[in-house]
Parts: sequence; C-alpha cells; structure tokens
Amino acid sequence: MTAKVKVGVLISGRGSNLQALLDACADPAFPAGIALVISNVAGAQGLERATQAGVPTLVINHKDFPSRAAFDARMDEALRAAGIELVCLAGFMRLLSDGFVEGWHGRMINIHPSLLPSFKGMHTHAQALAAGVKLHGCTVHYVTPALDDGPIIAQAAVPVLEGDTEESLAARVLEVEHQLYPAALKLVAEGKAPGA
Ligand code: GRF
Repeated sequence: MTAKVKVGVLISGRGSNLQALLDACADPAFPAGIALVISNVAGAQGLERATQAGVPTLVINHKDFPSRAAFDARMDEALRAAGIELVCLAGFMRLLSDGFVEGWHGRMINIHPSLLPSFKGMHTHAQALAAGVKLHGCTVHYVTPALDDGPIIAQAAVPVLEGDTEESLAARVLEVEHQLYPAALKLVAEGKAPGA
C-alpha cells in the first residue's frame, strides 16, 4: 500500500468538518492522513476533536503577530516542519496572504457553504434565502488568492424548503458538507481531482 498523503488542517472553531475528515482518515484504506491541526483560536472545539483522534495540534494566534504575512509565515513553517503535503481549510476564519496561498498552489483546498460562484464570503445561508434560490449547497475548491474563487473540485446541493431559516438551511448544508469534504479530499489525495 502506498503511504497516506500527509494533511494539515487549519481551523478556527467548532471543527465539525475536521471531525468528518478525521473519521474518514481513520480508515486504513483512505489515501490521506491528518498529521497536524492548527487553530488560530485557543480553546477552539476542533482542537479537542484532534486530540481525541491522537492528532498533534498547534495554536498559532494571529494576534501574536505584527502582520498577516508574519502570522502566515509561522503557519507555513509549522506545516512544512511536519512534512505536510496538502492543506485543508475547515472553518478557518482568516484571510490568507497571497504569498502563503501561492506557496501551497494546487495543494490547499477549502470547503465553502454555498454553490460557488454564488454567495461568496460570509452569511451564505442568509444570502441564499435573500436571493430566493431553490437549491443551495456547498463547494470544495482549490484555494487561490481571490476569496472563495479557486477551481471547483466537488459540489453537493440541498433543496431550500418553504419556511427555512438561516439555521435550518445551515444544518441541512452542514450535513452534506460532512459527506462532501472527505470525498473531495480522497479525489485530491489520489490525484483524481481536476487540476488546480
Ligand atoms: C462550515 O460551514 C464551512 O463550510 C465553513 O465554515 C463552517 C465551519 O464549520 N467554511 P465547522 O467548524 O467545520 O463545524
């Protein structure tokens, strides 16, 4: 069996997508393994999930750095020191500098809670409700310097139902996020995803 692709995951909070990735990676047949989880927020719930799974964690607080570039450089150093080959953003709430993004070109992916290119940025479920779309969902894409804009790897759709609130719609999308992210990571790790 070939070695698992070494994945680093960046988080800021709850970490439910991280959990879905940890669960998938626990299967010996899965082509990727999580070797490091970095959070920019101390006490993020996702850190506990990683520890439970026996994965090393690191808190790198952006507030401890004089600039975005300095913060990103510290993360870059930690990822490379751990031998990370592929970076997954999973609810990581910081914009990344162009230099960092370019350094991981084609080797960094993100999950975004909308069917891109619709509803980039924040509050995607509120945006979808305001637009009156009948289908919503999530996207896994390569990260490029422009926000929520890189080549699409995979998408999953859910219906928007009569009477949906931001919360009910978010919950329906989150359920499919947890299916989609491991499936997309598998494609990338096996070299079967469309190119960056
Ligand atoms: C998810 O909805 C993800 O798509 C977005 O941020 C949220 C993170 O949730 N990027 P969690 O931390 O994975 O639970």
